[in-house]
Amino acid sequence: MPDLTTTYLGLKLKNPLVASAAQPLSTKVETVKKMEDQGIAAVVMYSLFEEQVIHESLELDHYLSTGTDFSREASSYYPNTGNFTLTPEVYIETVRKTKKAVNIPVIGSLNGVSTGGWIKYARQIQEAGADALELNLYYLPTDPDFTSSELEDNYVSLVQDVCKSIKIPVAVKLSPFFTSIPNIAARLIKVGAKGLVLFNRFYQPDIDLESLEVVPNLVLSNSNELRLPLRWIAILYGRIQADLALTSGVHTAEDVLKSMMAGAKVAMTTSELLQNGLGRIPAILKDVEAWMVDHEYTSIQQMQGSLSQKSVREPAAFERANYMKALHSFRFLP
Ligand SMILES: Cc1cc2nc3c(=O)[nH]c(=O)nc-3n(C[C@H](O)[C@H](O)[C@H](O)COP(=O)(O)O)c2cc1C
Repeated sequence: MPDLTTTYLGLKLKNPLVASAAQPLSTKVETVKKMEDQGIAAVVMYSLFEEQVIHESLELDHYLSTGTDFSREASSYYPNTGNFTLTPEVYIETVRKTKKAVNIPVIGSLNGVSTGGWIKYARQIQEAGADALELNLYYLPTDPDFTSSELEDNYVSLVQDVCKSIKIPVAVKLSPFFTSIPNIAARLIKVGAKGLVLFNRFYQPDIDLESLEVVPNLVLSNSNELRLPLRWIAILYGRIQADLALTSGVHTAEDVLKSMMAGAKVAMTTSELLQNGLGRIPAILKDVEAWMVDHEYTSIQQMQGSLSQKSVREPAAFERANYMKALHSFRFLP
């Protein structure tokens, strides 16, 4: 039997398949327990969003009071904190209960952009027993005067503040929208991040032509979306001293295997489980094992990074050089 074990953020995992942060998967302890029974190696809890923390501390009123119209309109964008599942207290309690109920590592998750109450909640997540913390940095700049370096400086100081205030390892979940991903990755690691989760997937709003309103539109991923994180993990592997987790587009055993070969320590999945159920966990793991036996791999660790940019015969395949080659290779027969 091949050895599926891996390590992530200093945690020893029985295999590389991890459930990524998502409300439907981790709001209920029973669901996490079921995922554990099906063989998931670790779970990242759904995020406690900064907006909930701010709302809770009434700072949102101040934040929103910059314009009355804006205020009324903007408050409707935030989830109603009257919904008990969204309060920070319920979040911390869910982490505590989940940690007690399962034996797999439980990773807490905070999603936001400013230091605010984060340190307080990062500490509480640690006290609730979380094995690690994932920080999902998500800010969408719309002000043309706000520069990318200002935004990146904010991210770096936020990560530094959180890393300094807790003992459990911190991973940062990033979007792919940086001018230089290797640079921001290196800066975050320098201030204490032990892992990078690539990449955050955005849910672009849509326009409803009947109601003439902008509406949220959550479309689940497919395996094609694996390529973007795959490429960046392959480029970053061996260049930065942090564990890499791949999220976006992990649906099959092949996706897990590719993630490992690019250099990820774990492959995280959400859409596949939401679409096809938790039974996909053992099915994917069985297929991973069968592929490894067929191809004479004895361990996942032996595979990790074997097709990263450092290790492939043609490193340019991950770079711009391949862009032209890819375009020229397309054949169209009218
Ligand atoms: C319904 C739903 C809820 C999610 N909630 C969170 C969340 O609370 N925090 C977070 O960092 N990511 C959240 N995500 C993003 C997932 O963790 C994951 O990164 C993304 O779905 C890409 O992985 P996938 O292709 O396997 O779906 C959510 C995704 C979905 C579909």
